[in-house]
Amino acid sequence: MMAMVTKHFIAILIISLISKGFCACSLDNININTIRSGREIQGKTEWNVTVINNCNCPQKLIKLTCKGFQTVENVDPSILSKVGDKCLLISGNQLTKSASVKFSYAWDSAYIFWPSESTIVGC
Ligand SMILES: *[C@@H]1O[C@H](CO)[C@@H](O)[C@H](O)[C@H]1NC(C)=O
Repeated sequence: MMAMVTKHFIAILIISLISKGFCACSLDNININTIRSGREIQGKTEWNVTVINNCNCPQKLIKLTCKGFQTVENVDPSILSKVGDKCLLISGNQLTKSASVKFSYAWDSAYIFWPSESTIVGC
């Protein structure tokens, strides 16, 4: 009896892992890299930012923490738009698997962006 219950439990566990596992993404699957571009804009250092979706599924409504973010270089609002303490990426549109978004800004020091919110699509 106990063995049967255990078997069922394991079967259910495996099924739920198979159906979920492939798309088990979290904010950790959004990677943000910032590098010095080598240019200066209005006396400030320019930084190139790349945001990559490392999830096996598309993600949309991606928001980054943006509190205190400043730039003298104009950032296209269709790529990054500041809404309160957060920045909405590509107007909330979906970023497909392995796709990336790039933008540049200029300020005295690099700003550390963190993924704050996203919605996994199609899982
Ligand atoms: C930074 O971004 C600019 C504009 O996209 C690009 O021309 C430049 O090559 C980039 N610099 C580096 C070091 O990746």
